[in-house]
Amino acid sequence: MEIVILETAEQVARRASDMVCRQLARKPDSVLGLATGSTPVALYAELIRRHHHGEVSFRAATTFNLDEYVDLPPTHPQSYRHFMDHVLFHHVDIDPSRTHVPRGDAPNPVQEGPAYEALIAAAGGIDLQILGIGTDGHVGFNEPTSSLASRTRIKTLTRQTVEDNSRFFSPEEEQPLLAITMGIATILEARRIVLMATGVNKAGAVAAAVEGPLSAMCPASCLQLHPKATVILDRPSASALRQTDYYDWVLRQQDEIARRHGDPR
Ligand code: F6R
Repeated sequence: MEIVILETAEQVARRASDMVCRQLARKPDSVLGLATGSTPVALYAELIRRHHHGEVSFRAATTFNLDEYVDLPPTHPQSYRHFMDHVLFHHVDIDPSRTHVPRGDAPNPVQEGPAYEALIAAAGGIDLQILGIGTDGHVGFNEPTSSLASRTRIKTLTRQTVEDNSRFFSPEEEQPLLAITMGIATILEARRIVLMATGVNKAGAVAAAVEGPLSAMCPASCLQLHPKATVILDRPSASALRQTDYYDWVLRQQDEIARRHGDPR
């Protein structure tokens, strides 16, 4: 696992954006796995900015989002489809028919999981997966005790996740308790994974994911199994890690190599 600790959330967004742009430059028809939530909003804003400066194009790209609330139609203002349209898709040159978010309002939500998996497989699999992390260590909506072998399916959200996400819902709105999410095995099949975290409220989950045991109790620890996983953190979200000196040292070496010989990452 590559651990990149930067000083600010803006730097985290720029670093993740560099990785997305490099991926699209290498392979314009890349398949990107995308996350919602607060953390990647700055990444999407940076990608939009670079797109407007002609630095990146999504014309040939395909996207798959991690998750969606069960029962929310795509037009619902709190649906993740609506969120993605507004924070990214409507502002770049991506073909809307190649943007995928699980259908929370599918007539049979149980069948939506295997159908979504089939779409990902038909697209050739995910080249680069962006992840956030929940305060309980979830990735996608794979809550603690999710099977490390899980595939896209319906999950019941923990009380903590419902509480964390209540900021997006007004008091009179009914907040969904179920979501369709890519599974942990689905996520691990991505060829490259970038997990972003910012803010001190993520420090415990980040430490458990990076330095704790591989455990279904911290689903993000599954990244320890992935050969090409990068965790990009701001200083507050990295504050509970024990090996920060080592991560900083490795990063300095890698940045120096990239400066001298070009970035192989
Ligand atoms: C959203 C998702 C979740 C979020 C996580 C962190 O698609 O998959 O795992 O990444 O809940 O959310 P924020 O970034 O709002 O703290």
